[in-house]
Amino acid sequence: MIDVHAHFDDARFDEDRAEALAALPAAGVTRLINSGSTHASCERALELTRQYDFIYASIGIYPHDTMELENGGMKYLREMAQQPKVVAIGEIGLDYYYDGTPKPIQQKWFHQQLELAEELKLPVVIHSRDAIRDTLEILRQHPNNTGIFHCYSGSVESLREVVELGWSISMGGVVTFKNSRVTKEVAAAVPADRLMLETDSPYLAPVPYRGKRNTSAYLPEVMAEIARLRGATPEEIERITDENACRMFKLK
Ligand code: NI
Repeated sequence: MIDVHAHFDDARFDEDRAEALAALPAAGVTRLINSGSTHASCERALELTRQYDFIYASIGIYPHDTMELENGGMKYLREMAQQPKVVAIGEIGLDYYYDGTPKPIQQKWFHQQLELAEELKLPVVIHSRDAIRDTLEILRQHPNNTGIFHCYSGSVESLREVVELGWSISMGGVVTFKNSRVTKEVAAAVPADRLMLETDSPYLAPVPYRGKRNTSAYLPEVMAEIARLRGATPEEIERITDENACRMFKLK
């Protein structure tokens, strides 16, 4: 299994990071993409790629931290994005759920980071929360970009638009929550060639670990629930999601 989105640089792993990562092969996790969200976390993600063969990095600035991109921050991001084992730009996008960075600032830096991805020929990892309309509108203006909506939380109707635009989604622990009716519908409806698995560790642990610190070792819980919803076997889901991740992020 490939976890396409996790944050092992997070402080919640400071006490036992090496131990948590050492447990992943036995859990069936062969590779993971550690996503940055600030300049500092991108540096830590790059450090992890140097320490662990199976870790790759996604480099980008999260919507509410985009003020970091003013005053030379974009140049610093571009340098990091050209390091070895960087396989994507992200997580970037729009977040209207929290009242933080004003929408026009988020949008400006979303555009510019999409342009960086196009320039470096890297796929994009999108964070979009309560902002699917504006996210899709901006992506329509960037037809040369592609990538994934991580932790996709939209409707089946919006999923059709995502797919028509040529983008994919990744799904994590939320699909296992009892009250996640729409997310379960999305898991059943997404075309097989547009689906990937993620944990978003340390956030959003799947049932039966809900509320605890998440780790990629819980990815089988996510895979099992998606398999159940699609009437497939976990092995089939593993095969198609591995293929999709390898193709999108050019993993070996
Ligand atoms: Ni994340």
